[in-house]
Amino acid sequence: MTSYKELGLVNTTEMFKKAVAGGYAIPAFNFNTLEQMQAIVQAAVETKSPVIMQVSKGARNYANGTILRYMAQGAVEYAKELGCENPQIVLHLDHGDSFELCKDCIDNGFSSVMIDGSSLPYEDNIALTKKVVEYAHAHDVTVEAELGVLAGVEDEVASEVSHYTKPEEVIDFATRSGCDSLAISIGTSHGAYKFTPDQCTRDPKTGKLVPPPLAFDILHEIESKLPGFPIVLHGSSSVPQDEVDTINAHGGKLPDAVGIPEEQLREASKSAVCKINIDSDSRLAMTAAIRKHFDEKPGDFDPRQYLKPARENMKKMYIHKIVDVLGSNDKL
Ligand code: G3H
Ligand code: 13P
Ligand code: ZN
Repeated sequence: MTSYKELGLVNTTEMFKKAVAGGYAIPAFNFNTLEQMQAIVQAAVETKSPVIMQVSKGARNYANGTILRYMAQGAVEYAKELGCENPQIVLHLDHGDSFELCKDCIDNGFSSVMIDGSSLPYEDNIALTKKVVEYAHAHDVTVEAELGVLAGVEDEVASEVSHYTKPEEVIDFATRSGCDSLAISIGTSHGAYKFTPDQCTRDPKTGKLVPPPLAFDILHEIESKLPGFPIVLHGSSSVPQDEVDTINAHGGKLPDAVGIPEEQLREASKSAVCKINIDSDSRLAMTAAIRKHFDEKPGDFDPRQYLKPARENMKKMYIHKIVDVLGSNDKL
C-alpha cells in the first residue's frame, strides 16, 4: 500500500472548493508519455496552476500503471525543482470501470479516482459508485462519478436530450452515492470528431463547421439543485483548427475534425464546473509538431529532435488552456 500523501500528491477536495468559489476550473490533462508529463508540469509551474494529471485504463495498458505512478511522483519533484514550493498535483484515474481497478489505483498512490458507471442502469451506477466511495474515503481519496451518457458521433445522439444528465436525478445520485464530484453530459463528447458535419452548421465566411452549443440550461439547473457541488466536463478538447490544418498540410488526414468552442468552455469554467478534461488537444499538438518536423527535416531520426518541438507545442497549448480558457493560473 502506497498512499498518495507519501508521494506529495493531493486529492481534489480543497482544489475544487477553491475553484467553485473562485469561478475557474482545474485542468485535467491525460498523459501517457514522458513528454506530456514534462509539458504539463512546466505549464502548471509557469502559470502557478493546480493541475490534475489523469491516467486512463488505456494509458495504463500502454505505459504501465506502475511507471505512470512513478512519473506522477516525479512530476511533484520536478515541479519543486522548477521552483514551485508547494505544487498542487492530483494523480487521477480517468474512466475507472470497476471497483477492482479503482482499489488498485488507490492502493498504489492515486489521490483521486473516477468510477464511470454511466452506462449502467441508474441503481447499479449508484451501488458501484457507493462501493468505490466507501473504500476511497477510508483512504482520503476523492471520487468522481458520472451520470448521463456523453454524446458520441457514432450513436448520433448530439441532439438527443435523453442522453444528457437529467437534473431531477442529481440530488438523489450525489446523496446516495456519496461521490465528491459529478461528471455530467451537456453535449461534449470524446475525441477529435465530436459532431458529424450534419449536426453542425457552416460558418458562411470560413466554411468551417460550427458545432451545436452546449446545454447550459441543463448545467444551470444542475447547479441550482446542487449548489456549490463540483461538476466535471469530459470531452472538452477544442480541436484547434490550426493544429488540424498543420496535420493535414503535412500528410495527415483529419477531415472535418471538430471540438468544443473555447468561449463555451470559458463560460462553463465560471460556473460550478471545476474540472475540465482535455486529452485530444494534446494528441493533436503533439502530432502536428511531429508531422511538420518530419516533413521539413526528413533526415532527422533521433527521437529527441522531433519530440522536443512536440513537447514545446503541447506546453504552449496547456498554458493557453490554463490562462485563456480555464482561468486556473496564479492560484498557488
Ligand atoms: O476519455 C478518454 C480519454 O481521452 C482517454 O483516452 O482511453 O484512449 O487513453 P484513452
Ligand atoms: P477529449 O477527447 O475531448 O480531449 O476528452 C478527454 C476526456 O474526457 C478524458 O476523460
Ligand atoms: Zn472522459
